[in-house]
Amino acid sequence: MKKITIGAALLTMMFNGVYAQSLKSPDGKFEANFQLKNGVPFYNLKYNGNVVVEDSKLGLRLFKDSSIKFASEIAKPEDAGFDLNNGFTKTAEKRDSKNETWQPILGEKKNYINNYNELAITLNQASTDRSIVVKFRLFNDGLGFRYEFPQQKNLNYFVIREEDSEIDFPTDMKAWWIVADYDSQEYQYQTTKISEIPNQWPKAYDSNASQKLIKNAVQSPLMLKKEGKDQLYVNVGEAAVLDYPASHLEVDAQNFKFKTHLTADRQGAKGYIQTPTVTPWRTIIVAPKAEDVMDSKMMFNLNEPTKYKDTSYIKPTKYMGVWWEMIIGKSQWAYSTSENVHIGKTDFSKLTPNGKHAANNTKVKEYIDFASANGFQGLLIEGWNTGWEDWFGHSKEFVFDFITPYPDFDIKMLNDYAHSKGINLIMHHETSGSATNYERWADDAFKLMNKYGYKSVKTGYVGDIIPRGEHHYSQWTINHFYRIAEKANDYKIMVNSHESVRPGGESRTYPNWISAEAARGTEYEAFGGNKPDHQTILPFTRWMGGSMDYTPGIFQTKLDYYFPGDKRFVQTTLAKQLALYVVMYMPLQMAADLPENYAKHMDAFQFIKDVAADWDDTKILSAEPGDYIHTARKAKGTDNWFVGGVTDENPRDFTLDFSFLDKGRKYEATIYEDGKDADYVNNPQSYHIYKKTVDSKTKLPVHLVRSGGYAISVKPVK
Ligand code: NOJ
Ligand code: CA
Repeated sequence: MKKITIGAALLTMMFNGVYAQSLKSPDGKFEANFQLKNGVPFYNLKYNGNVVVEDSKLGLRLFKDSSIKFASEIAKPEDAGFDLNNGFTKTAEKRDSKNETWQPILGEKKNYINNYNELAITLNQASTDRSIVVKFRLFNDGLGFRYEFPQQKNLNYFVIREEDSEIDFPTDMKAWWIVADYDSQEYQYQTTKISEIPNQWPKAYDSNASQKLIKNAVQSPLMLKKEGKDQLYVNVGEAAVLDYPASHLEVDAQNFKFKTHLTADRQGAKGYIQTPTVTPWRTIIVAPKAEDVMDSKMMFNLNEPTKYKDTSYIKPTKYMGVWWEMIIGKSQWAYSTSENVHIGKTDFSKLTPNGKHAANNTKVKEYIDFASANGFQGLLIEGWNTGWEDWFGHSKEFVFDFITPYPDFDIKMLNDYAHSKGINLIMHHETSGSATNYERWADDAFKLMNKYGYKSVKTGYVGDIIPRGEHHYSQWTINHFYRIAEKANDYKIMVNSHESVRPGGESRTYPNWISAEAARGTEYEAFGGNKPDHQTILPFTRWMGGSMDYTPGIFQTKLDYYFPGDKRFVQTTLAKQLALYVVMYMPLQMAADLPENYAKHMDAFQFIKDVAADWDDTKILSAEPGDYIHTARKAKGTDNWFVGGVTDENPRDFTLDFSFLDKGRKYEATIYEDGKDADYVNNPQSYHIYKKTVDSKTKLPVHLVRSGGYAISVKPVK
């Protein structure tokens, strides 16, 4: 506990008594309070009468000038008189509430419940005659708040220096975190106390193709746990991050306090604002049970319903890809041996082939055959287009045109062949971070996709962003991502973005942005590894605001199979890879390994073939961040269930309670579990498959070896 002097405590009580506006959650368990202390806005949050968030400051600092034209202006001294964080009086208070059920176009459940009480407080700053609104929404799973800027005489345009929203916790908590960065989220999770973050921070990152770290700050969604008596799990995030930079959390380790830190743009400014507008929501999800935090849909609820007229083209998609073989270094994206090519000028047919180009007609047809024979809908092909010879690391703006195939990739023939076999090819647009170039070509690229019948595109933003100096999560780049999503919608195309900003529930509004990477995915198993607890943390963090393209399904985990002596390996058992298809929500779901590796384990591959990608229901059966997750999901429009469980570096036993099944009904379960002698280091491919009749009364013991797991498909007996 923090020490507060008696005088300070008395003062706090006095202020509390005088000014507090109170808001209760619909179930009455949460209480949020707002107050002005000497004109400065504060809020706090209580759960069951206990303080979850202590009095925490709200407000923004602004640049004095309403337009920042040159970086030199950024260096001008701050002018507190211009900030929106002091000198306020409350001029109005408005209350509202909502209890609605809505249906996500693709989702973890058929119905999402959006139930909250709202309090909007208008604050006037007399010295500048400007008013802002602080809006709170209190749900049964926690609090969201944001700032609103009504259009008014003295508040039309402004530039944000920083948003200073604080979240001050009363106690030191356990935290699952990654380092904050304006350009990357591809880091290993750290598990420490809040107080230990600064010590651990310098050891918590490795290098990345694009990287701008923020010292002692962490990323959101941030997962926290108050251990001991009155145990609570807390998730701190943001929702509806539109026309605004993504934020990070600065850590005050002595006071267990976090503060918003917005991603700066190329000039150091943090948001160019024109009123009327609103900021993203700051979210604090709270529950005594970890499962309930993971199950929260608050971030989606805080986004607006979609305005798209036609969403019929947005479909769950299971896919394979000409991909993993490049990631591990067996094949290449590039076609030729050249190291310097010019888009639109170089005649690629005259270059010397490097002999390792994977996206060639013969190989792609083989992948199509295998994907088709096994019931997939999509096949991703990377390296199909010209430009990969010098695509990376040169800050080359005109790096791809997204319309010109390499000489050995017959786009018409391959799409015709794929369609004849029930497969849609998935387009790949790696931008190399050159967002300006992508905007230049996007219409032509999407037209080409329409012409050949592509339904979805995987975009990528490896390396530093162009416009040079912008960051992956700055306001300009976030607007770019949404421009691309909207344009893709014009062409009825689904988007799966890599190296993009993490989602904050925006898929409710932009449902064709079907998935994103925006974290450390399976590819890192080939670039340094993911720790065995990685997949037990991601669903509590990265996944809180939207699905991830994690690209699981690696059966050949040891890379010395390809390259004798290679020490790299995917740190998991084969059965754990199967479990990820349930534990991780992925409407766009990849089976990432090579066909030859699946062909050797067709019995285990059957689970990947069977598992659904869109759901009517989800039950988080048991979960603890960093340790384990057990999830059951009911496939959309059927009575089939799929269950998956994963563990960290520790072996675990679990008794699966099938009480989620319909009472009195018999089901056939097919269980895919770690073999008795399985071990993620020494014997990852040992698994055991068996069938069993189960009903709602069944209790099934399962054993997970270290970094192991299990997957179960459950179908009603006809
Ligand atoms: C990084 C992406 O995450 C990966 O999936 C892709 O293959 C490469 N960039 C090349 O675009
Ligand atoms: Ca652990």
